[in-house]
Amino acid sequence: MEDHNSNSMMHNCKFEVPEIIFGRGMLNQVGPCARRLGGRKIFLVSDKGLFDAGWVDVAMRSLLEAGLEFIYYDNVTPNPKDHEVHDGFKEYISHGADVIVGLGGGSAMDAAKAIAILVANGGRIQDFEGHDKITRPLPPLVLCPTTCGTGSDVSQFAIINDTQRRCKITIMSRCVAPDISLTDPDTLATLPDEFVGTTATDALSHAMEAFFSVASTTLTDVHAIKALRLLTSSLSAAVHQRRPSDLENLSRASLHAGMAFSNSLLGIVHALAHPIGGLYDANHGSINAILLPEVIRYDIPVVTDKLQELAWGLGHRANGDISAAGEKIQETLDSLLEASGAPSSLRSIGVQRQDLPELARRALNDICIVTSPREADEGDLLRILERAY
Ligand SMILES: [Fe+2]
Repeated sequence: MEDHNSNSMMHNCKFEVPEIIFGRGMLNQVGPCARRLGGRKIFLVSDKGLFDAGWVDVAMRSLLEAGLEFIYYDNVTPNPKDHEVHDGFKEYISHGADVIVGLGGGSAMDAAKAIAILVANGGRIQDFEGHDKITRPLPPLVLCPTTCGTGSDVSQFAIINDTQRRCKITIMSRCVAPDISLTDPDTLATLPDEFVGTTATDALSHAMEAFFSVASTTLTDVHAIKALRLLTSSLSAAVHQRRPSDLENLSRASLHAGMAFSNSLLGIVHALAHPIGGLYDANHGSINAILLPEVIRYDIPVVTDKLQELAWGLGHRANGDISAAGEKIQETLDSLLEASGAPSSLRSIGVQRQDLPELARRALNDICIVTSPREADEGDLLRILERAY
């Protein structure tokens, strides 16, 4: 059993976040934000669901009131595809846009980021897979999340589906983080019930993986624990009663978890979730919800020095008993996942058993595996997948 954690890594702190604007009704500030970044012709990326819910209209009105022109691009689907990004790039260039606004869940925001990468660097989006492959700075970017999980609005990641290879590519670079993250929690009011739960489990996975990451620091731990406290207090009520105050807490949890994982990176849950999402076009939060308990069970033996702090953060009095702290964390996790309504087996979301070895193989090449607290080889990943099956 190998433990990646080391004190030297814990003491090296680097923490980057965009300008953050958060508050109910703040979507009407998207126009002034885009204008402040020098925009005249805005490339607005969103999707049909948000258009029907009326939020695209709010953003368009704000842009017009700020005296800005805009081009609307909604050719984006869940698990955004390479060809959607390439088409968006052509639209951006043909209209001579100058600022990109992404409004939506992780799909619309990651598509907006990927279009921005191509605008500045040319080529195909696959050329930028991996760490720090982007050489030229992106055009100004404003991202407005409308789910409670992705964290894309503050993160240094963009995840795009390579449709030929049927896998997700992970692009990681400082310059992928937007200039402004603008969250209006009112947008959660129109989010369908199942997505409240499954995007919240994405935030839950971000917070847990960020906290146990070998690259975690005191700065990321603060945000990871705050996210977990908010999820513990509000996830069940937000899913079942949909009170605006609880939904707002989930929005905050997503923001805190996003700031944590963008700076500490993730682990095995996301390393496995990316190939599964790429192969099956399945919901990202659902995949995470299924994998998270198994991965935490795998990690716990090597993260004992952090269990008490996390248990304390979750409101438990562990009294120095590390195994009791571990049990409390797992109990909390189980109750949050149950409250989310997310599925609990890979089989139930259509994963084929014969694909598990290939999924384990692909996960070894995902950048998220690098910061896992416990090393894992192909056999270890396959055993996690089989237990989650
Ligand atoms: Fe995620």
